[in-house]
Amino acid sequence: MGTAGEGRDASPPEEEFVVTPWEVRGRVDYEKLLRRFGARPLTQSEIALLEKYAGEVHPLIRRGFFYAHRDFDAIMRWHGEGRPWALYTGRGPSGPVHIGHMVPWILLKWLSDRFGVEAYFQLTDDEKFLDDPEMSLGEATRWAYENALDVIALGFARDRLHLVVDTEDIQLLYPVAVRVAKKLTWSAVRATFGFTDSTNVGLAFYPTLQIAVAYLPTELRGEATPVLIPCAIDQDPYFRLARDIAEPLGYPKPATLYSKFVMALTGESKMSASNPDSAIYTTDDEIAIRRKIMNAFTGGRPTAEEQRKYGGNPDVCPVYHYHVLFALDDASVERARQDCRAGALLCGECKLVLYRRIAEFLREHRKRREKARDRVDEYRVSVKFR
Ligand code: TYM
Repeated sequence: MGTAGEGRDASPPEEEFVVTPWEVRGRVDYEKLLRRFGARPLTQSEIALLEKYAGEVHPLIRRGFFYAHRDFDAIMRWHGEGRPWALYTGRGPSGPVHIGHMVPWILLKWLSDRFGVEAYFQLTDDEKFLDDPEMSLGEATRWAYENALDVIALGFARDRLHLVVDTEDIQLLYPVAVRVAKKLTWSAVRATFGFTDSTNVGLAFYPTLQIAVAYLPTELRGEATPVLIPCAIDQDPYFRLARDIAEPLGYPKPATLYSKFVMALTGESKMSASNPDSAIYTTDDEIAIRRKIMNAFTGGRPTAEEQRKYGGNPDVCPVYHYHVLFALDDASVERARQDCRAGALLCGECKLVLYRRIAEFLREHRKRREKARDRVDEYRVSVKFR
């Protein structure tokens, strides 16, 4: 807790897991987390509502990776009435993007295409500058631009993606953020985020900016335009507050759609930037990708003989988990699961299939990423809405 940027108090008993927007520790119990946060599980009838309007269900939802929400059903009904809405998500640009970050953005792009709605994407260079004592503001803004390339590379149409870089597009955000700030007491913000007396005042103000973007589409369009926010469940504290103060401010409540975390290759609950070998970055070359996957922790047995005899445990295995996220068809996921359990699939083989799939995905991604390099400003919200 030594520096201003680290001034948060989040030290629960050892056996408990911790999930905050800044930290995930321990083995996450996702059902327990829902009860703790007060979000709702995504039910089959809500998924059916999505199918009714989208015409299909994305594999990340069908395979249970996106598993919880706030008012997802309400926004689907709002859509059914032909009323306007938008999508919103973001990234704290602290370094290169890993494939865990990409997962909510893949769903963002799919939702934007399927529903023909605009996506607002916030890059919080201010947040990362304020949070990391070692990070200069220039460096955080440079990472915002680098990370924007990964978003653009997913293939959004120019008029459907609006990038918000906090320090550069602040003139649009600030009038909304000060209204938000006036409604939020220090005690509510401190309790929600675990801030302490040594938290710097920048971090204490920052939540107003992440909340402001949830209301920005309404401001820019001049009519009620609720947002749907696909992200991992760690971001829920912001949107709980955003929902509490929306009505008093005259904005529609934001809806959310929450995923679990993409596991670390080391077997922990969340891929983390603090251990580069736990995560695959979009900028990793094929040698690095291969090394990381081949060295990954698995749910397999110590020897091939034991594996054949007793089978492996896909439930704790990051390699299987990545098949669930990236396999093209449900049947191959189920086959991998059964073959692993029966001992018919050995870890080396399973890793190789995964390596080929991820390497191919990232090969194409990197080409599109480089093509985006001179085009970031074309997607910037304040350039478009000047
Ligand atoms: P950041 O940069 O920590 O994370 C960016 C997005 O990636 C999700 N995420 C993950 N999803 C799956 N598996 C993982 N291992 C994993 N790690 C991170 C996060 O939930 C997030 O969706 N303060 C935010 C930036 C932000 C934002 C937003 C995020 C601004 N506005 C609106 C979501 C929605 C941040 O630092 O995200």
